[in-house]
Amino acid sequence: MCGVTTTISVVNQKGGVGKTTTVASLGAAFAELGKRVLLVDLDPQGGLTFSLGIDPEDVDVTVGEVLLGKAKPADAIVVTEDGMHLLPSNVTVTQAEEALVSRTGREQRLRVALDKVADD
Ligand SMILES: Nc1ncnc2c1ncn2[C@@H]1O[C@H](COP(=O)(O)OP(=O)(O)OP(=O)(O)O)[C@@H](O)[C@H]1O
Ligand SMILES: [Mg+2]
Repeated sequence: MCGVTTTISVVNQKGGVGKTTTVASLGAAFAELGKRVLLVDLDPQGGLTFSLGIDPEDVDVTVGEVLLGKAKPADAIVVTEDGMHLLPSNVTVTQAEEALVSRTGREQRLRVALDKVADD
């Protein structure tokens, strides 16, 4: 498939400033415009996962396994009720964060993982 894939990051160290709400809203708006949307939840609290109708505790493969190289993005991605795709998160992502703290190139891992699905 031919097309342009755009990645948008919503990041702020401060809590409760509307990051999750912004991502969910942007995702829904782009999906409504007919764009193919993959949302990535990087919060171990799984707020985005939960807000899209998926119980984080029910998620078997998370973005954490993807960041650790234990799973491919395609193995973790789920389709939401609204027809968007989601790379979900839950509390186990904390372990991935801890494991990656001392690894060089950790800041590249998400980009490398997403490159694998960008054409889709
Ligand atoms: N534009 C807005 N206007 C009013 N309330 C908002 C707006 N955006 C988000 N909120 C509310 O603010 C609260 C925090 O929003 P949200 O959970 O999106 O923040 P967050 O930055 O993801 O928080 P956290 O750091 O805990 O993950 C929620 O109750 C949400 O409904
Ligand atoms: Mg949040």
